[in-house]
This record gives sequence, C-alpha cells and structure tokens, in this order.
Amino acid sequence: MLTVDEPAIYLEGTTKLSTPPPRDVPAMLPAFFNPKGKFVRDVSIACYGAFAEEERNLTFADALCGTGARGIRVANEIPFGIESVFLNDVNSKALEYAENSARLNLVEEKCRFSKMEACAFLSTRAENNGVRFDIVDVDPFGTPSPYVESAVRAIKDGGLLSVAATDSAVLCGVYPQVAQRKYGGYSLRTDYSHEIGLRLIFGLMAQSAMHLEAGIVPIFCHHDMHYFRAYCRVKVGNSYSLSNQSEMGFAAHCFVCGFRSLARYDELFHHVPRRRAEKNEKEPEFSLQDLECPNCKVSGVHSRLSIGGPLWIGKIASREFVSRCAKVSKLPLFQVNELDVPLYYDLTALSKRAASRTPKLSDVMNALIELGYATSRTRLNPNALRTAAPLRTLRSIVSEFAR
Ligand SMILES: C[S@@+](CC[C@H](N)C(=O)[O-])C[C@H]1O[C@@H](n2cnc3c(N)ncnc32)[C@H](O)[C@@H]1O
Ligand SMILES: [Zn+2]
Repeated sequence: MLTVDEPAIYLEGTTKLSTPPPRDVPAMLPAFFNPKGKFVRDVSIACYGAFAEEERNLTFADALCGTGARGIRVANEIPFGIESVFLNDVNSKALEYAENSARLNLVEEKCRFSKMEACAFLSTRAENNGVRFDIVDVDPFGTPSPYVESAVRAIKDGGLLSVAATDSAVLCGVYPQVAQRKYGGYSLRTDYSHEIGLRLIFGLMAQSAMHLEAGIVPIFCHHDMHYFRAYCRVKVGNSYSLSNQSEMGFAAHCFVCGFRSLARYDELFHHVPRRRAEKNEKEPEFSLQDLECPNCKVSGVHSRLSIGGPLWIGKIASREFVSRCAKVSKLPLFQVNELDVPLYYDLTALSKRAASRTPKLSDVMNALIELGYATSRTRLNPNALRTAAPLRTLRSIVSEFAR
C-alpha cells in the first residue's frame, strides 16, 4: 500500500505511471519524476525494443529507477524478449511509486524491486555470465561516472549498456577540468560540443570496459535538452579491449578558422615509443609546433589547436541498429541516414565566422553532394551537417549561398 500522499497517475506511452503529486516539475521529493523526460524514455523504449527483437528471456536492470518510469515502461511496452525487469533505487518512496505503477499496468509478475546503492545492486550480478543482466540502464542525477564500471561488470557478454548524463555544462566545455575529473578527458566548447560530450561518455564506458579486459561497441547516442544518452554493447575479451584502445584519442580544434579533427593517441604522443626505445635520449622529440592548425597554415596564419579528450574517436552509432530501431519506432530521430564522418558543422556557426547570413541547410548539402562529397544531416543538431569535404570548400559554399 502506498504511504505517500495523493499520487498522480500520468500516462506516458501506453503505460500508467504513479508519480508524486504534480506540484514540482520535475518532482524531486518525495521521489524523482520528470514528465519532460518522456522523449528520452520514448527513444530508450525503441532501442531496447530493437535489441530485444532478436533475443529471448532477457533481463533488464534499471539501476537508478526513481519512480520507475523507464523500467515499468520496459515491462509494459516491449512485447517480446524481456522476461524480467529489475528496478532499484536508494529511495524507498520512489520504489513505492514504482511498485504501484507495476500493479496499475498488471506487470508485477515481471518486476523485481530492490532498495540498494546502485553499485552494490549491480555487484550482486557481477559474478558470472549466468546471472549477469542482458540490459543495464544507468540514469543518475548529473554524471554517470560513479556507476559505469559496476554496470559493465554486471552485463553479459554482448549485452546492452545505456547511460544517461545531465551535466551538460561539463560535457559541452564550460567546465573542461570537471570533465577531465569525471570522464577522464577535457571537453571543448565548440559548435559540435554535444558530439564531444557523447564521445566523452563513450570514452568513460570504453575505459571502464578496458579495465576489465572487455570492450564496447557504440550503437546509438543522442541528446535532448540537458539529457545525453549513449548506448553500447559490451563485449568480453582482451581483443575488444585492444581494439577499444585504438578507438580512444583526442579532438583538435582551431578557434581561429574552425578546423576540427580527431587524432589517435600515437599522433599526439609520437614521442612516447621513441623515449622507450632510446633510453639515453635527452629530450623527447616533441614540439608544440605540431599543434599548429594545418588549415590556417595554408593562409600563412599561425594558430594553435586546442585539444579535447582523451575521448572516444570511433563510430558513435551502428547503422544496422538504427535501422532496426526505425522498424519498431516512428520517431524521426531514427529516420536520419547519418554518415560516420566525425565532428559535424553547425551552419549558424559557419556563417557567423563568414559574417554572412545563414543559408538553407539543404542548399549547402546539395552543393556539397554535387561536388561529390559524402554529406548528411546529423541527429545531434537539426541545423548541422556531416561532410567529407574540406573546411575550405564548405566555407566557400556557405559564403556563396549567403550572398
Ligand atoms: C534521475 S533519477 C532517475 C530517473 C528515472 N530513471 C526516470 O526515468 O524517471 C535518479 C535516481 O537515482 C537515485 N539515486 C541517487 N543515488 C543513488 C545511488 N547511489 N544508488 C541508487 N540510487 C540512487 C535517486 O533516488 C533518484 O531516484
Ligand atoms: Zn585554423
């Protein structure tokens, strides 16, 4: 029986959610519920649904479930594949709402509730492949960094890990030092800072997996308002750990011309093997000149590149997985046919740099495609594009259309 006062019933998707009275939005007390999180939950239901389509008897763990909005929706809205949903939170009031929602939707049989610290809860399943979860979601206040390694330990080989972060100022470059402490890499305040933020989250996931001789395979990510969400498969084995190592690196950005590029570790720290090989060498051959912007250099301008990371420099989505999501969900997010080219360009930022008006995205994209450059939209920013074209070409097209 609920001991909390006047629960409200809120319909999200096809699920009835028992929530705290709607006097605070988002409600923090007596338990957390934010109706504005509906869109990110809709996206996760599609991702879990796509994942569960080809599997059977899956277990889903909502490690910081709050009032259970995500976990109860998983139990109620994913028709096949998911056998049991484990909902855990430290707040017993939150769990009362979650249990009430399970009853309202007649899914109590599928749901198990526990009141534990999230890492302790995840550790109960870290023993061996037999008891580990197939899917784990980590949805904390702010950064997921305290929980990611425990989550990786609690996932079966090939299982799905989804992680949320809401510390957007940290991830988007307002507080780069905090990002270094929480995610292990510096953030960068650029026109593509949301992609940098997501790459920092994947970097944290990969680093945690590598500690455990495992690796990650990113399959989807997006952001909405201050929510960042990253989805990956966890693969156990040192070969995955080794391949993740070469998918970690840096982002280099020129604040003079807008040049951007990802760099592998060995491109930045090329002095490291030399030092190891030649022990008597006095100075490593490393020059800060190497960080000069190659795009400015062509015009005779000397400008330094700013470095973000270490972060994930590999693919951040799987086309195959996105098309499976598009089959189970009509959300436009899954309809974007996005290139794997990293570090998108925001059109407003490009035109601002050219001191011109902002042209139509479709005009710029068509011009690039006509010139033979692979180009696409990105689901991370409706006003941005990904292109294989050099920055110079892109800038001259933008200026042309802005005349
Ligand atoms: C952002 S809310 C979860 C929201 C929920 N997943 C949803 O979609 O509505 C974060 C939750 O984490 C819980 N929490 C905070 N620290 C925790 C910890 N160390 N272990 C378990 N739960 C924790 C809080 O009580 C809160 O309910
Ligand atoms: Zn430059």
